[in-house]
Amino acid sequence: MITQEHPKAVIVIFGATGDLAKRKLFPSIYRLVKNKKISENFAVVGVARRPWTNEEFRQNVSDSIQTSMKESANLDEFTSHFHYHPFDVTNPSSYLELNDLLNDLNTTYKTEGNRIFYLAMAPEFFGTIAQNLKKEGLTATEGWSRLVIEKPFGHDLPSAQTLNQEIREAFNEDQIYRIDHYLGKEMVQNIEVIRFANALFEPLWNNRYISNIQVTSSEVLGVEDRGRYYEKSGALRDMVQNHMLQMVALLAMEPPIKLTTDEIRSEKVKVLRALRPVKDDDVAKYFIRGQYDSGEMANEPVVSYRNESNVDDQSQTETYVAGKLLIDNFRWAGVPFYIRTGKRMAAKSTKIVVQFKDIPMNLYYNKGASVPPNLLVIHIQPEEGITLQLNAKKDDDAGYSQPVKLDLSNNFLEGINTPEAYEKLLYDCMRGDATNFTHWDEVALSWSYVDPISDAWKEGKANLTTYPSGSMGPKEAEEMLKKDGFKWWPVN
Ligand code: BG6
Repeated sequence: MITQEHPKAVIVIFGATGDLAKRKLFPSIYRLVKNKKISENFAVVGVARRPWTNEEFRQNVSDSIQTSMKESANLDEFTSHFHYHPFDVTNPSSYLELNDLLNDLNTTYKTEGNRIFYLAMAPEFFGTIAQNLKKEGLTATEGWSRLVIEKPFGHDLPSAQTLNQEIREAFNEDQIYRIDHYLGKEMVQNIEVIRFANALFEPLWNNRYISNIQVTSSEVLGVEDRGRYYEKSGALRDMVQNHMLQMVALLAMEPPIKLTTDEIRSEKVKVLRALRPVKDDDVAKYFIRGQYDSGEMANEPVVSYRNESNVDDQSQTETYVAGKLLIDNFRWAGVPFYIRTGKRMAAKSTKIVVQFKDIPMNLYYNKGASVPPNLLVIHIQPEEGITLQLNAKKDDDAGYSQPVKLDLSNNFLEGINTPEAYEKLLYDCMRGDATNFTHWDEVALSWSYVDPISDAWKEGKANLTTYPSGSMGPKEAEEMLKKDGFKWWPVN
């Protein structure tokens, strides 16, 4: 249900002194205002433990925008919409005071009683905050109230269920916006359009013509200062349970009957239901886990994961995962979906490669080798675009075919300035469009798929291998594809 094109609301950010607010949320709100997506009828309330004043908070907002966007305009008018409220999440009087402030701002900015509660902070407080918001009357306004939740949504199925029950006592499913920021990326949103708006692809998009699909999300950065969180999470929970499975669902789903939130989500849910569970004894065969060792990045030496701060020097946490997923339905039976993601890899790149089956007979022998397969590459980041790899005759090389690329890159199209994922998601939430947020059913199914893998790892049922920083991951991941007669296509 889309409620407003130029939405009006008070946005309450819990964790307003944190990194996410500074790096993503403040700049996104600024761009939404600058691009006239949201009207002047908005206010932002920053909530956190620190005893900041409004002035300190506004200075912080302004610094964040100047740093991340190199913005030199005067920001005073914009930051005057920002207010700070020191807060103790467990103290009921904090909520009552907050409610008074929200009522005042509603009158000043004429926000029609609309409220967004954005939880950008430690997940252990999500349940408490949601329940107190309801108990202390903050969700009872004449407008709408919505809850935005950052990941992690639990650390396994049982903990996610508990959290869900807690927040569902205070908010209905359609008031809950669970963020997966990959769903806000322009080219992730484009997967559906590329598939369902092109007569060229849809007839081929199945196990008769596609041999395998590869989804890679590699990062150059290490764990940085997030050791404490990452030690408990690892790449499987941090990237696979959410971002990677969401991309697989978009690639594999059936065309929805309509482009509505419910129809799209229900097609994605069907894919997650059709994922073949990985049996305990098969985990080592289908999933490879690795941890980065020391190495070189951009000619500079970097330390191993175990030597990062707040990381155990005997840590068994994986910083890399490669997996082979099978989807047991008519369209995809027999087509492996390979995924891989890791930190401290050779390149920062998120790409999807769809490899089509070989042609039945090789007329154009390619200097003795077989004709390379057709590939459709969807570039998610840092470049955005699509490439179609075909075969054609080049020069005067009679009788030979060679790969040629049809390249469409957004980076080359004039005037295109892709909005940040968070900007789109915040705008969607303000308009009441939950399509690009994760429904509880998707969260639950993703954990059900991932939990047996992490359990088997905990029981030591598969080796943790290492890979040098600056490489593309452990050799075991290469071997996994080789056994199937495939190879990872390069991402850089
Ligand atoms: C986050 C993970 O969800 O995604 C991080 O917690 C990871 O560990 C990040 O670095 C990657 O996001 P992006 O948009 O840079 O690919």
